[in-house]
Order: sequence, then C-alpha cells, then structure tokens
Amino acid sequence: MKKIAILTSGGDAPGMNNVVASLIKEAIINNIIPYVVYDGYEGLYSGNIKLVDEKFAKEIINRGGTLIGTARFLEFIKPKIRLQAINNLKSLGINDLFVIGGDGSYQGALKLSQEGLNCICLPGTIDNDVSSSEETIGFDSALNIVTQTIDRLNDTNMSHKRCGILEVMGRYCGDIAFVSGIGSSVDVISTSQQKLTKTEIINKIKECYEKRYRSVLVLVSEHLYDVNQLAKEIESETGYVTRANILGHLQRGGVPTARDRYLASWMAKFALHQLIKGKSNIAVGIFNNNLESIKLDVALKMQRTVFKI
Ligand code: ADP
Ligand code: F6P
Repeated sequence: MKKIAILTSGGDAPGMNNVVASLIKEAIINNIIPYVVYDGYEGLYSGNIKLVDEKFAKEIINRGGTLIGTARFLEFIKPKIRLQAINNLKSLGINDLFVIGGDGSYQGALKLSQEGLNCICLPGTIDNDVSSSEETIGFDSALNIVTQTIDRLNDTNMSHKRCGILEVMGRYCGDIAFVSGIGSSVDVISTSQQKLTKTEIINKIKECYEKRYRSVLVLVSEHLYDVNQLAKEIESETGYVTRANILGHLQRGGVPTARDRYLASWMAKFALHQLIKGKSNIAVGIFNNNLESIKLDVALKMQRTVFKI
C-alpha cells in the first residue's frame, strides 16, 4: 500500500489541523497509509515521523495552532540536511510529502522535489502571502480576530475621546490590515503595499479632530513604524491622547473559523486526489472560487493577487 507523510511548517495558522485531519481521513478512505512529521522540516531531519489513524484525525480537526508542531528550521537550506530528511522518509517507504505552510515552506519543498521527493503544498499562513492562491488557510480566522479587536478598541477610544494605533501581522503583506480595516470603523490604514508617511497619518488625524470625531483608529501592518513613538508624535501634534497596541500572536492562535475549516477540508481532499491522479510537485491554490494545482516551480514565480475595492 502507498504511504504519505504530512507536515506543517513556518508560522502556525488556524485550520492547519483541519488540513492534516482531512488528509489523513481521505488517505485512509483511499487505501493510503498516512504518517505525520512532527515539527516541520526539523522533525523530517531528526526522523520524528509517526503513523496516524482516524482517531488522531478526529481529535485534532477543530483545534487551533498545529498539533503536529511546526518550526523555523534555518538549517534546512543545507543540502546535507535535506538529504538526511529525504532518507528518513524513504527508509519508511514514503515518497510523497504534503507540506502545509507559507512561501518559505514552499521554497523548502521545491528543493526537496528537485532532490527526488514528491511534494504537494497547501497554503497555510495567516499572512495571505502565498502567490499561488488567492486565499490562504488561516487568513479568515486572523481577520475575524483583528476586526473584533478594532471594534473593542473603538469602544474604549470613543469613551475617552482618544486615538488608537493597532499594529497587525502580515510579514511583508498588507492583506490582514487592508481587509480587516476596509469594512470597519478605521480612519487610517497603512500597509507595506500602500505605506503612508508619518506626516500623512498625522494630517489625516488632524482632519478627524476638525470633524470632532470622538475616536480615531489608525491600523498599520507590522515592520512599518515604531508604533509607540508614532503614538507620541500623534499626541503632540493633534488634539488626541493616543495609545499604541501591538496585537501580536493573539491574532494567530485560537480555533479556525468555519470558512477556514471548509477551505482546509476542501483543499486537502483536492490535494490528495491530485496525488491519486499521478500529479507531482504541485501547489494547491484557490482562484475565482476554484481549486487549481500549479507546478511548484511555476507557483513560486507567480505574482500575488492584490486586493482591490
Ligand atoms: P512560511 O512557510 O510561513 O513562509 P518560513 O519562511 O519561516 O515560514 O519558512 C518555513 C521553513 O521553511 C523555514 O524555517 C525553513 O525550514 C524552510 N525554508 C524556508 N526557506 C527555505 C529555502 N530557501 N530552502 C530550504 N528551506 C527553506
Ligand atoms: O508568518 C506568520 C507570522 O505570524 C507573520 O505574520 C509574522 O511576521 C511572523 O509569523 C512572526 O513570526 P514568529 O512567530 O516566529 O515571531
């Protein structure tokens, strides 16, 4: 019987467990034996690989984080380390690996595929920064946390006539800030794709002051400003007492939304059937509400779809 291995890699994302569970269940239905690799590429290298069953899938499917663990394992750029990882799988009779992660994990998978291991990648990251998919598993869950946080901040800012700054994640992708901000009561959005200068931000807040807004919210992507310093500058140049908040890992943990659970199950089933059809070294992505499989080397050269409204 054919065997597969599954790992999660890079930053954990809500819905990763659902992909793992759905792959396990679909594999068993199709007479394929599923294994999981603990702690991403680190576990692949150290040989932390375990046989799993339906009971395992049932117990993890709705949980947050990734229960098979993940890692930022920089050593994996070394060919010698990857060779050991491939040998660990092959010694168990496994030639096919499912990788759930973001762009970095895909880079690792591309190298493994060039070195003789069939890799099938699924997009799992809150950042939505995988070019070969319009949406990543985990993005919707993070958006829901960020929008709730915006509402909460507005409640307290409104009460005190204050300005709040909220810094959200996204590495170098502004989608979390843009999509959560656009439909919420947010006065200024600054992302890596559309970065505002401090002067532009302050001028917009001055306009809010002139309109006598009781609360102002500035939403920014990470890595753009020192938000505590920005808060001081806003406070001294506008009439608003200003507080900065960095949401951090709170937006990454927690159970997946229904959307992420559905997307994860759908993508997993599709991915497993790509393997059964004989496809190799592919990335699964969603475009116009359809799932597609794209050759990994092509997927990694694609331009990202930018949100428009
Ligand atoms: P993400 O997959 O969410 O983008 P990372 O960028 O941290 O997260 O990548 C996850 C892991 O993928 C890294 O810790 C490393 O083990 C592996 N990886 C990333 N880039 C490469 C690369 N160029 N070659 C080999 N492995 C890589
Ligand atoms: O890739 C997911 C992500 O949460 C990014 O948004 C963020 O920049 C990064 O991971 C944080 O990484 P770590 O949890 O390793 O500090």
